[in-house]
Amino acid sequence: MKLRLGIVVATLTLSMAATAQHAPAGGLVLEPADNDVTDTASLQRGAKYVVNYCLGCHSAQYVRYSQVGAGLGLTEDELIENLMFTGERPFDTMQSALRDEDAVRWFGVAPPDLSLIARSRGTDYLYNFLRGFYADDSTLTGANNLWLDNTAMPHVLWQLQGIRRATETGEAESDGTLHLETVRAGELRAAQYDDVVRDIVNFLDYIGEPMQVERQALGIRVIGFLLLFLVLSYMLKREIWKDVH
Ligand code: HEC
Repeated sequence: MKLRLGIVVATLTLSMAATAQHAPAGGLVLEPADNDVTDTASLQRGAKYVVNYCLGCHSAQYVRYSQVGAGLGLTEDELIENLMFTGERPFDTMQSALRDEDAVRWFGVAPPDLSLIARSRGTDYLYNFLRGFYADDSTLTGANNLWLDNTAMPHVLWQLQGIRRATETGEAESDGTLHLETVRAGELRAAQYDDVVRDIVNFLDYIGEPMQVERQALGIRVIGFLLLFLVLSYMLKREIWKDVH
């Protein structure tokens, strides 16, 4: 019992430490990403956004284009036409056009590889991070982020989301959160932008563990088999013990 309590306390402490790592100042609460890795259409859209908007700076070096094509039900032609623009071959991994040295020179820090980012940061965090940019003249890129103060990442989706800025009264609301107002509308309405971000997060979640879709389906089949087996063994047991009673 003592040991169990110890484990519970340790788990709680660890998970609190994990959340604390990304907790921004003030009372911001993560909104759930609600993405669905079994939704192939969403994954296909997400792949396209990531190739177009993210691989300019980030790599996903553990992921091969061919793997993405197979997992997302794309033929080789569709794969090349939709996701491969700079003469890669299907077996290549997703590399960035930007070299780390240049990134450090321009941004002060190399953009992290995206292969496992959903596992290290969590899907909810990614969903909120990509929706959390706002204009801030005091930073190098002119952008800041609610979830990563003074981030070196520019707001690469600004044309879609539009530009938001902290309101005049400035700093914080009573609960510590910044109040943002849109100063320039984007191409998308807020809900549409959320959908785009959800597709991106979905794809990042998927590449973090492409097996998870298969594994979930397999899990359901295994449990079904075990239940069936339980019923059969129970019937068998009754049959065998029938005469003894
Ligand atoms: C112009 C270059 C550039 C582009 C394009 C870009 N990023 Fe970034 N990204 C960065 C840099 C630089 C960092 C490091 C930020 C920091 O540590 O402050 C970063 C950091 C991140 C992080 C880590 C945040 C954290 O909490 O540490 C995530 C997640 C991320 N980017 C996702 C994306 C996604 C998804 C896209 C495409 C929609 C994208 N980035 C496009 C430059 C870029």
